[in-house]
Amino acid sequence: MVFDINKKVTWTGKIDWELKKFHGDEYSTHRGSSYNSYLVKDKKTVLIDTVWQPFAKEFVANLKEIIDLKKIDYIISNHSEIDHSGALPELMREIPETPIHCTKNGAKIIKGHYHKDWNFVEVKTGDTLDLGENKIIFVEAPMLHWPDSMMSYLTGENILFSNDAFGQHYASEHMYNDKVDESELYQEALKYYANILTPFSPFVIKKIEEFSSLDLPVSMICPSHGIIWREDPLQIVNKYMEWAKNYQENQVTIVYDTMWNATRTMAEAIAKGIKEKDKEVTVKVFNCADRDKNDIIAEIFKSKMLIMGSSTINRGILSAAASILEMVKGLGFKDKKAAAFGSYGWSGESPKIIKEELKKAGFEVIDEGLKQLWAPDREDIEKCKAYGNGIADIIRQKV
Ligand code: FEO
Repeated sequence: MVFDINKKVTWTGKIDWELKKFHGDEYSTHRGSSYNSYLVKDKKTVLIDTVWQPFAKEFVANLKEIIDLKKIDYIISNHSEIDHSGALPELMREIPETPIHCTKNGAKIIKGHYHKDWNFVEVKTGDTLDLGENKIIFVEAPMLHWPDSMMSYLTGENILFSNDAFGQHYASEHMYNDKVDESELYQEALKYYANILTPFSPFVIKKIEEFSSLDLPVSMICPSHGIIWREDPLQIVNKYMEWAKNYQENQVTIVYDTMWNATRTMAEAIAKGIKEKDKEVTVKVFNCADRDKNDIIAEIFKSKMLIMGSSTINRGILSAAASILEMVKGLGFKDKKAAAFGSYGWSGESPKIIKEELKKAGFEVIDEGLKQLWAPDREDIEKCKAYGNGIADIIRQKV
């Protein structure tokens, strides 16, 4: 499938309806994804990005149906990651001399992936590529989210090809933001930001400010995954600015793992205690052994506070809880509070371990945590609720 975005630009990517996991097994894609490639036909013709390697043959075959490959004057690789550069080997077999415009890091990484010395043309912010009537302006975007990342802006049509930024893992035949369910779209865009872009938020702010200062009109934002922003395209840019500034909703997220339900009982009692004291705050409770870890990260991203629990096992914590802690450590959330809890039978290290890990991850841990010997009885449940009451007070102070 290909489709025209306007008279000059054709989408030549791949909608991957079946994708369930991305980045190996690291990122869940409940709604599939797409790898967006764009063919711009002016006096000169330029192809912007390709698709993931398993779809390389299909991609090249589709391209051949709409253009003689030899008529592609330039290739732009906005980002070297395999999901966008994966069809280059297949394509370059046919047109090996075609220049590939990319950043200096892009050329290095593509060589590192494919071990080919293609005709790389290294570009920097402000460099342009004249297409005849319109031109491409290159804007480097290092660490959004790789060192090589770059965006390309097409003058005349006023389209920003933003690559991963502003994208979502969201397969849909209705490729425009005004054609899809807005809440699904934003759910996927936020999950993408939370799980992939959070560590680079300072770069997001700087890049948006820098791009805004260029005063280029934007009629459309064409990312490399998911839906194209054509109706009020800057809405996603404004949203990124909000997300990049230590975004929070009035939410507390409780994440736990449990062996014989004692820690689960604590989680539910703490949740009840928060709600008793504050009817307005959203409290969500997730068993991390059972629920999707990337969805949990998206909920933590939205929260003022993370309350993390695990039973003690072998003087440590349960592996699903450890996995979430490892993820939040890497993502480096800012300006969030946290607390720890957990049940035990004899040694009882879990709250202490969780507390230490949360501190290392940059959370402001409110206290030593809540520890429960064996299963909570009625009195213990009341203690957990009281602990939740206290958390509600702390959260309210944060408003
Ligand atoms: Fe969609 Fe960073 O690749």
